[in-house]
Amino acid sequence: MDQASAKRVCVVGASGKLGRYLVQHALARGYEVVAVCREASVPKLAAFKDRIHIAAGATNDAAVIQRAVAGCSGVLTVLFPWGRGRSSSGAAQAVLDHAEPGARLIFSCGWHITRDGKDVVPKSFGPQLVLGRAFGWLTRAFDIDDQVDACRRIFASPTKWTVVRGSDLEEGESQGLPVWSEHVGDPILASNLTRRTDFALFMVDALERDELIQQAPAIVGCRSASALAHQATQHAA
Ligand SMILES: NC(=O)c1ccc[n+]([C@@H]2O[C@H](COP(=O)([O-])OP(=O)(O)OC[C@H]3O[C@@H](n4cnc5c(N)ncnc54)[C@H](OP(=O)(O)O)[C@@H]3O)[C@@H](O)[C@H]2O)c1
Repeated sequence: MDQASAKRVCVVGASGKLGRYLVQHALARGYEVVAVCREASVPKLAAFKDRIHIAAGATNDAAVIQRAVAGCSGVLTVLFPWGRGRSSSGAAQAVLDHAEPGARLIFSCGWHITRDGKDVVPKSFGPQLVLGRAFGWLTRAFDIDDQVDACRRIFASPTKWTVVRGSDLEEGESQGLPVWSEHVGDPILASNLTRRTDFALFMVDALERDELIQQAPAIVGCRSASALAHQATQHAA
């Protein structure tokens, strides 16, 4: 990678809600941004159109990804389960295969993803997942297992990846960088709520945090009750 491309990042899935926050935070941090989204969704990036390069195409198309990630020192990928066309695993594999050697690869997913099986998810997750899987399968609208497959591929990769596992999300002004823990179920995460803009902020921040390489941090809002309670116990200790 030459010096001129050292600050270029690619956002895969840039037109979605999380994707647009990723673009916004990456631009604010001074990165040059290449945004990948479906042709029909390009107008959703109108607010940024004079400041970004747009690579229109399916986000799980290896040829589209190969062109978009060329020269990028980082790739921010939104893994979403929509459709039955390997949207998550196709995108993840294309990024793993074609990103520049040594590039930082940051992926989004939810708390339902586990790396080592030591996560303890909220009680409501089990029934929600069973119903979600069945509904997605019957309607062919989404495929949760494809997101699981995508993360399995990432966890097995020797690249500089980070899988950021989001809690439930809400809209609203940024509260600051979320806090994280290794396992869902850790007390600091109990509030299970993060602002969507801060999820994106964490992912962009991770581009330059070497301690997060090959980690799957589970995040929660820094102003959430559980994060504040954790902070208070740290100060008291
Ligand atoms: N929503 C939550 O509460 C929640 C909680 C925890 C973690 N997360 C994680 O956060 C990330 C983003 O979630 P989000 O809710 O904010 O979604 P989002 O950013 O709005 O992303 C949705 C993405 O899916 C694409 N998409 C939608 N329908 C599609 C279809 N039929 N075929 C192909 N692509 C389609 C969108 O592309 P277009 O713009 O082209 O439509 C967009 O890139 C995901 O990794 C998710 O696992 C979400």
